[in-house]
Amino acid sequence: MPTLLVTGGAGFIGTNFIRHLLTVRPAWRLVNLDALTYAGNAANLDDLAARMPARYRFVLGDINDTDLLARILAEEKPQGVVHFAAESHVDRSIVGPLAFVDTNITGTARLLMICREAWEHDGRPSDFRFLHVSTDEVYGSLGPTGYFTETTAYDPSSPYSASKAASDHLVRAWHRTYNFPAMITNCSNNYGPYQFPEKLIPLMILNIIEKKELPVYGDGGNVRDWLYVIDHCEALTAVLERGKAGQTYNIGGGAERRNIDVVRQLCALLDQRLGRTANGQSSRLIRFVGDRPGHDRRYAIDAAKIKAELGWAPRFQFEEAMAATVDWYLAHREWIESIRSGEYRRWIASHYGSIDSAVG
Ligand code: NAD
Ligand code: TYD
Repeated sequence: MPTLLVTGGAGFIGTNFIRHLLTVRPAWRLVNLDALTYAGNAANLDDLAARMPARYRFVLGDINDTDLLARILAEEKPQGVVHFAAESHVDRSIVGPLAFVDTNITGTARLLMICREAWEHDGRPSDFRFLHVSTDEVYGSLGPTGYFTETTAYDPSSPYSASKAASDHLVRAWHRTYNFPAMITNCSNNYGPYQFPEKLIPLMILNIIEKKELPVYGDGGNVRDWLYVIDHCEALTAVLERGKAGQTYNIGGGAERRNIDVVRQLCALLDQRLGRTANGQSSRLIRFVGDRPGHDRRYAIDAAKIKAELGWAPRFQFEEAMAATVDWYLAHREWIESIRSGEYRRWIASHYGSIDSAVG
């Protein structure tokens, strides 16, 4: 049974990826190494450990723990590594950048070092792949036109994107210097089930449900290129199986939206789902608040390379997948409560001040 090591699999995209891969590749076994920071929730995958113990193993641990990494690689001899583990929230990186350096840069370097040692030790198996899951934010900010391609110069704005840029450089260096069979994907903003409600879409869904204020940074005109998380999982599977070592692939949904339009759409959807009949009821909760420092204006991905070389294209339409996402949050109130730890409440209180209390 081929085995894959996944790092950060208890987070948003990792959880979706593990569930997706175990379904579409019934012969694969997955080992999930996750430190369970505030963003990780092993319970997302608890049913798998019980339902398919031979195909799913959870290991609690940090990618900075080189002894643990070496032990897992020796025990499991994975055919590939999919590296999701990261600190991932831009606003938190502005308040506390060092955690981003520790995990995203140092952690990635340690993971690369131990994986390369294991790969050398095993005689450089030609089918081994290391897939580094990165972001389009490394490219910086676009004006009203143009797209990021794989050759766009890196120009990160936030401590988060700078740390991801550094990790991408390390991965590329490991390929060029050691011929280590690594690949990088740079993906646009994801949305879907299991996303921690500090990010725009789930934060707004929860606040609308609870009739709390909806904090839109700046003028709300910043644009993101949204991709449903399952489309991202399918792209990662294609890269893992058919991507070329040393290559970078941009992944994007071709669904550019202004933040204010996303928030208004969520208001309308939830008004309808919750039977809030007074026209525009939830949109009255929108508040334009101070802008994020260094706030990138627009992201947009040119995904021509992965489409042409690997035959991947997004399957989900934004409106349809957003509705499915809203329905998932409405149906999983117990999940929401379980991740609203004291730490989460502290973040909301310190970052947004008064919005934790309901209005209207
Ligand atoms: P997330 O914050 O939801 O999950 C991160 C996971 O990593 C958590 O389970 C956490 O416990 C774990 N983790 C953190 N530090 C760790 C460490 N030192 N050792 C082991 N595990 C650790 O993040 P996400 O949104 O699922 O993103 C996953 C990856 O995809 C990240 O690398 C991110 O940069 C990238 N990405 C995310 C998006 C997006 O829209 N969310 C878009 C493009 C790329
Ligand atoms: P976010 O989900 O944090 O993703 P990223 O910063 O990685 O793109 O934010 C998406 C957009 O939404 C971004 O332009 C910032 C904006 N935003 C708000 O306007 N209000 C909020 O409370 C949050 C969390 C984000």
